[in-house]
Amino acid sequence: MSISENDKKHVWHPFTQHRTAENPIVIERAEGSWLFGEDGQKYLDANSSWWVNTHGHGHPHIQEAIHQQFSTLDHVVFAGVTHPKAVELAMRITGLMPGHFQRVFYSDNGSTAVEVALKMVLQFWHNRGEKKQKFMALSGSYHGDTFGAMSVGQRGYFNAPFEPLFFEADYLDFPTGENDQEILQNAERWFASGKFAGLIVEPLVQGAAGMRMYSPEFLDVLVQCAKKYDVKVIFDEVMTGFGRTGKMFAMDHCQEKPDLVALSKGVAGGTLPMGLTVTGNDMYEAFLDEQISKAFLHGHSFTANPIICAAACASLDLFEQDQTWKNIESIGEWNRNFASELAELKCIDEVRQTGTILAFEIDTGEESGYFSSIREQAYRYFLDNELLIRPLGNVIFVNPPYCITKEEHTDMSKKIIDFLRSL
Ligand SMILES: Cc1ncc(COP(=O)(O)O)c(C=O)c1O
Repeated sequence: MSISENDKKHVWHPFTQHRTAENPIVIERAEGSWLFGEDGQKYLDANSSWWVNTHGHGHPHIQEAIHQQFSTLDHVVFAGVTHPKAVELAMRITGLMPGHFQRVFYSDNGSTAVEVALKMVLQFWHNRGEKKQKFMALSGSYHGDTFGAMSVGQRGYFNAPFEPLFFEADYLDFPTGENDQEILQNAERWFASGKFAGLIVEPLVQGAAGMRMYSPEFLDVLVQCAKKYDVKVIFDEVMTGFGRTGKMFAMDHCQEKPDLVALSKGVAGGTLPMGLTVTGNDMYEAFLDEQISKAFLHGHSFTANPIICAAACASLDLFEQDQTWKNIESIGEWNRNFASELAELKCIDEVRQTGTILAFEIDTGEESGYFSSIREQAYRYFLDNELLIRPLGNVIFVNPPYCITKEEHTDMSKKIIDFLRSL
């Protein structure tokens, strides 16, 4: 039996309706910006394999770090034990952030990084004997698929079966610029109720909502307001972290900084899964007590896996190279040029761009949404033209690995424009 047939028999894929889905493409190998199929077909990894890959596939420096760590220490329990790479990574990550970030809690993916942040905030108030249990979030947000992360995310068809079990959250409208003042007034009114434990946002870019972007000025005022009412602020930088917005973190564009940051995706350069929840000593100290019950009683079997920590440190080495930042800058420039070309096309509703992310909406004459009919058509066209791009409904976006060359970017842009012209 072929891989594809065995896959059909035994594998259950994420976000997939198996009754109607086509067979998945079989990828055997990857290098740089490219994925290679078993049938000899190759694909440019234009969305960085679910937005995780930063330096390109199979980067030799990360490979070397993984090999070396595997032969030294592959895995060890992380309660009552530590190891050099976990300590190095925590020191280096906090060193990249504003001074109040001192503590790193390790977990396994973006959802758990968020889950940990939410639990920390709730227990922070619990340990202090204050009854603050509500979260505020932005409409359209996506923070992951575990229960806490779903509870503070956009409610809808993706999570409807579980909704009765979600905890309470209040949603601010998405800030478009025109409605910013009204949203900020609502936020202040809600915060003033004293019930809110925390505010969680995807800073500056809402990923799964269609790479929707909003201004750092809005976020600064929202965070300021949250702080005025002693509401803990979580930035979910799972997608925006590690250079995606042109700076290391989206919060680097802001004056006001959060209390907690959730990181994942690009932590280990997109090679291995890891979640980080980074916070300050004020949060940490609220868990210090003679009683064990005040401790943060949360953990995962693979917490701070040494191989992943080593890959993450190697990825940070690459971020220390000027070339990486030059590449990020170049992608931004190529994206801006591409955005001007797109803006000329009649079928395009809106083009959005920040750092290495470029997104645009196709005007299909139908209501926008994840299940827009253009999605399959675009996905298929791109595959036939050596591009792996998963549209978010009628939103098409690119956020390629930072090793993409100008030629590859130009070729990708041309193919996307050809598709749009063919409509
Ligand atoms: C902003 C944001 N938060 C959280 C998550 C969840 O991360 P994971 O898929 O690793 O659980 C995602 C995933 O796309 C995300 O974009």
